[in-house]
Amino acid sequence: HSGVLHKFKGILFSTLSSEGLLSSLDSFDAREDDVFLVSYPKSGTHWIAEVIESIPNARITLTSPIELGDISKFEELKLVCKRRVIPTHLIYDMLPVTIKTKQCKIIYIVRNPKDTAVSLYHYYRDNPNLPCIDTWAAFLEKFLRGDVVYGSWFDHLLSWEEHKNDKNILIMFYEEMKKDLSKSIKKITAFLGIYVSESEINKIAWKTSFSEMKNNAAREDSDQKHTICALTSNRNLVFRKGAVGDWINYFTSKQKRVFDELFTKKMKHSELARYFEDYS
Ligand code: A3P
Repeated sequence: HSGVLHKFKGILFSTLSSEGLLSSLDSFDAREDDVFLVSYPKSGTHWIAEVIESIPNARITLTSPIELGDISKFEELKLVCKRRVIPTHLIYDMLPVTIKTKQCKIIYIVRNPKDTAVSLYHYYRDNPNLPCIDTWAAFLEKFLRGDVVYGSWFDHLLSWEEHKNDKNILIMFYEEMKKDLSKSIKKITAFLGIYVSESEINKIAWKTSFSEMKNNAAREDSDQKHTICALTSNRNLVFRKGAVGDWINYFTSKQKRVFDELFTKKMKHSELARYFEDYS
């Protein structure tokens, strides 16, 4: 994996996530008002983060991902005075235990896996913190085997699906945000318990549109403190196309068949997966 990835508990991580940090996750001391922003990579994490940061008077601090860095991480997080919004790409089982016992609020964002795969393929190609990749076909095989950073998309979703009815967890869909962003923003603000007026909702929707976010990323310099994905602090690598259904430009009919067969097998008992039938 060209030295930029390492395996921990059978899952590939970036070397930016040290083994020391990964093995001490359970020593993280969650606060009751912490909010976790959880996703498989390329599912719309930056989008939701921007929505939350744009809420007027939210009095929150968006931190870097919990799994990014070394064991000094938790000391660093202790210094945050305001309500912390902490991103992560961890599977449910690896989430620090105090987050579960304190029932912290968790927003899990999920995106149809074919578009996620295409987006991750481009991330692999453009992001120096990820291994070099030859072809789309070779990447797709790795994706289906779960031989990519943060492991299998299927296993990630299944680990979170078990908790989809927990009252502290809000599941968001990328495709639903594309369809009706204002409605999605309302869901998020209501879940966080923050009142936002109709006109403020519209302002947030405008600010968090794909074009607006992409343009702002091009204007800003990368800011280490404003890192949402543990795989890069360069926002220019994030806003690529922002579309639903781009997978059609990549999958051959054979690749689609192989993908769908595995999907059917793996997601047989998944209710969340049924949502994606419209997007395959
Ligand atoms: P594409 O590569 O398909 O364009 P993450 O934030 O989890 O890394 O996900 C990145 C994906 O979300 C990218 O997908 C990116 O373009 C898309 N994205 C980010 N902001 C968006 C927005 N405001 N609207 C739509 N898509 C957005």
